[in-house]
Amino acid sequence: MAEFSLPANSKVRKDGRVFKAPAGSKNVRVFKIYRFDPDSTENPRLDTYELDMDSCGPMVLDALIKIKNEVDSTLSFRRSCREGICGSCAMNIDGKNGLACISACADVKSEIRIYPLPHMPVIKDLVPDLTNFYAQYASIKPWLQTRTPAPPDGERRQSKEDQEKVDRPSACILCACCSTSCPSYWWNSDRYLGPAALLAAYRWIVDSRDEATGERLDHLEDPFRLYRCHTIMNCTEACPKDLNPAKAIAEVKIMLAQRRH
Ligand code: SF4
Ligand code: SF4
Ligand code: FES
Repeated sequence: MAEFSLPANSKVRKDGRVFKAPAGSKNVRVFKIYRFDPDSTENPRLDTYELDMDSCGPMVLDALIKIKNEVDSTLSFRRSCREGICGSCAMNIDGKNGLACISACADVKSEIRIYPLPHMPVIKDLVPDLTNFYAQYASIKPWLQTRTPAPPDGERRQSKEDQEKVDRPSACILCACCSTSCPSYWWNSDRYLGPAALLAAYRWIVDSRDEATGERLDHLEDPFRLYRCHTIMNCTEACPKDLNPAKAIAEVKIMLAQRRH
């Protein structure tokens, strides 16, 4: 995945707390973790945690869980499945957005810097506020819309080839790694839908069973919702599921252009 700059935030204090590894530890890794306490009037800070990796699992999420369980229970982060399918543990690790549960500590060579997903409001520590992200997802109406009655057997059938068109975009886990790596989304997330919601829109536009294709395209025909994408490709590079939102967005633009001619 490509590295990109975190938003300049000169207000993050570097004088955070330091938690040393237990005496005698032989395999120490250093974690620098963004801390923000909404109940405090102080600016965010970076806390330093030294862990003995001989008693820690290999993934960044293992380290976070060890810190929370054994070192500092005040640390907040989201996680659920711990196998890359729920999207909860998305964060910025060593300058790249990714899922902590499938990011190996060994892939980071020096100290491991962990921040929340960039350019999102932070609720606490590594927990971003995804309210707008989810509202944008809901705005594309991510469900099958039909006008005609279902066939007598109750199923709307689809060819294998048509199903394959929706297989990949349906694998999106809504982790937000893509949208929060997109410069256009950073600056216009109030009006630009961002790659995750647009990939979801594409998934329903190309579904052969859906009968609201025209309305879905009408909704995207907007200078901000869709056309703020400038094909920078950060989104595709950031996706931990190897999906290609940039290509989906480009295909929607082509559909809209073809519709005009
Ligand atoms: S291709 Fe579009 S959606 Fe993806 S990062 Fe670039 S501007 Fe954002
Ligand atoms: S497209 Fe990829 S990066 Fe974006 S929300 Fe879906 S799974 Fe996450
Ligand atoms: S904990 Fe579910 S994706 Fe990481």
